[in-house]
Amino acid sequence: MEIFIDTANIKEIKEAIALGLIDGVTTNPTLIARENRPAKDLLKEICSLVSGPVSAEVISLDASGMVTEARQLAKIAKNIVIKIPLVKEGLKAVKILSSEGIKTNVTLCFSVSQALLTAKAGADYISPFVGRLDDISEVGMDLIKDIRTIYQNYGFKTKIIVASVRNPLHVVSAALMAADVATIPFAVIEQLIKHPLTDIGIQRFLEDYKKIPQK
Ligand code: E4P
Repeated sequence: MEIFIDTANIKEIKEAIALGLIDGVTTNPTLIARENRPAKDLLKEICSLVSGPVSAEVISLDASGMVTEARQLAKIAKNIVIKIPLVKEGLKAVKILSSEGIKTNVTLCFSVSQALLTAKAGADYISPFVGRLDDISEVGMDLIKDIRTIYQNYGFKTKIIVASVRNPLHVVSAALMAADVATIPFAVIEQLIKHPLTDIGIQRFLEDYKKIPQK
């Protein structure tokens, strides 16, 4: 499973790169707004740090506006992937963009039917938001399981990005369900690494090391 970091924060991206586990980055308007600098500059810097896919979202609501924005965003760097909202106009835009060789990540997916149509439209990625489904008392990860089955049944090439990840269990379940990608906030990456028994073990070894005669 590939791991993307779900952030537009340069410090977090650099730290995740140093950990050697980042295959790509996903951003959205909320994450970019937090950084308080022009989106284009920020995306350019992110693309210079990461060679894998970097998702940048359009804000237009009609297909022609989405396509125009996408073409501009795609000029920022070769690894830009255009995030398109999962609405009727978005699917039209995906069809046009994929015919132009511009990669797409269809976002804000909350149902299996949406995911099926996204694959038929030819999107490169689909982003089902598991955390936001959990928030309304639906089991977000069930959606991933169903999409995986349907994509497998018909050999769809669209990659599943588990998005809106809120905890380590989402990531582990994503891997068990053979999701293609999990896009993870930096805080959850840290949680994935940490284990109290590891910390206790290190502490104990350090204490015992002091008891070893030096000569
Ligand atoms: C993914 O592409 C989205 O940017 C993100 O995962 C949304 O997460 P949230 O529901 O925590 O805002």
